[in-house]
Amino acid sequence: MNKRRITAEITAIGGYVPEDRLTNKMLETMVETSDEWITDRTGIKERRILSDPTMATSDMAVLAIANLLKDSGLQAEEIDCLILATSTPDQLLAPAASLVCEKAGLSSAWGFDLNAACSGFLYALSMGASLIESQRYKKVIVVGADQMSAIVNYQDRNTCILFGDGAGAVLLEPSSTENGIKDYLFKTDGKGAAYLSVPAGGALQPASPETLMEGKHFVHQDGKTVFKAAIKGMGNACQEVMTRNGLMSDDIDWVVPHQANLRIINAVGKRLNFPPEKVKVNIQRYGNTTAATIPLCLWDYQADFKPGDDILLTAFGAGFTWGATYLKWGNLRHNNGQPKG
Ligand code: COA
Repeated sequence: MNKRRITAEITAIGGYVPEDRLTNKMLETMVETSDEWITDRTGIKERRILSDPTMATSDMAVLAIANLLKDSGLQAEEIDCLILATSTPDQLLAPAASLVCEKAGLSSAWGFDLNAACSGFLYALSMGASLIESQRYKKVIVVGADQMSAIVNYQDRNTCILFGDGAGAVLLEPSSTENGIKDYLFKTDGKGAAYLSVPAGGALQPASPETLMEGKHFVHQDGKTVFKAAIKGMGNACQEVMTRNGLMSDDIDWVVPHQANLRIINAVGKRLNFPPEKVKVNIQRYGNTTAATIPLCLWDYQADFKPGDDILLTAFGAGFTWGATYLKWGNLRHNNGQPKG
């Protein structure tokens, strides 16, 4: 008798965004810009900012996990592994995942950070899926969390209008149904590193009075180059994943893209022939939260997804890194620890 392959199914989801809002109107008082320009050029109306100085990325991840555990009815000590996708760890050392395991009470879990910028959550989701498929682990939490406000220059109108803070988490569990992570395709092109980076604070240019004076600890980007590469990268990755799984646009129920710029999202959707109502967008509320955009979008729109729905996730980020993931939505646990069924 043929045993069905074990896949990794998303069975719970959680999210956290800070209370404080940074609106376009507020940005008008900080840099030379306007609500109209930001709305037209990016689709963003406001972002959330973690303004409590005693909190950082790990705390947002902990709150997203707490939300996931509360909603699923699972206990923290039941979790086997944590993968934390982030580009803004609390510190260079120790790993933020260690802090999260401790603060979230994941006492049985091992954990690690994964940095692939805005593609981090998708890369991490594939790693989590592999751990589940190996059948060594039964409950893996994958988090995307970033505190972009810590590395954005609020005097630079090219970047400060784009980014926000937040965290989203999913739980992966083994499934012998048709649901789960079906396929993924990722690319990395280091030639893109020059176009989107935080130049100092790493090993090449450790913090010094000069690096501080020159503002090298902030995000620097060539927006136009990133914009074009993002449309091409996400468009091609989605097309390739669909082709090799025999899928046409009509077969996809939902597209959940990285939320970097509404014009990028619309261009990718148009290129692939997805009607706008299938493409999930929450950029107007949160801006670009880097590794958190996709899980926050899944969290926001979970009520729309039915078990078995065909969903395409796609991301593009610094590096350059990009890719697409195809999954069938799972049965979510709700409150009692049991699968929803
Ligand atoms: N408010 C008002 N004007 C602004 C502005 C702002 N916040 N930022 C730039 N401008 C000005 C520019 O100075 C330029 O003026 P000029 O024509 O007098 O030189 C004009 O608006 C057009 O600038 P441009 O850079 O061509 O705008 P754009 O349409 O490319 O939009 C971005 C800029 C950054 C919004 C866009 O390039 C983008 O989203 N890029 C991708 C960034 C991204 O997603 N990064 C993360 C990757 S995951």
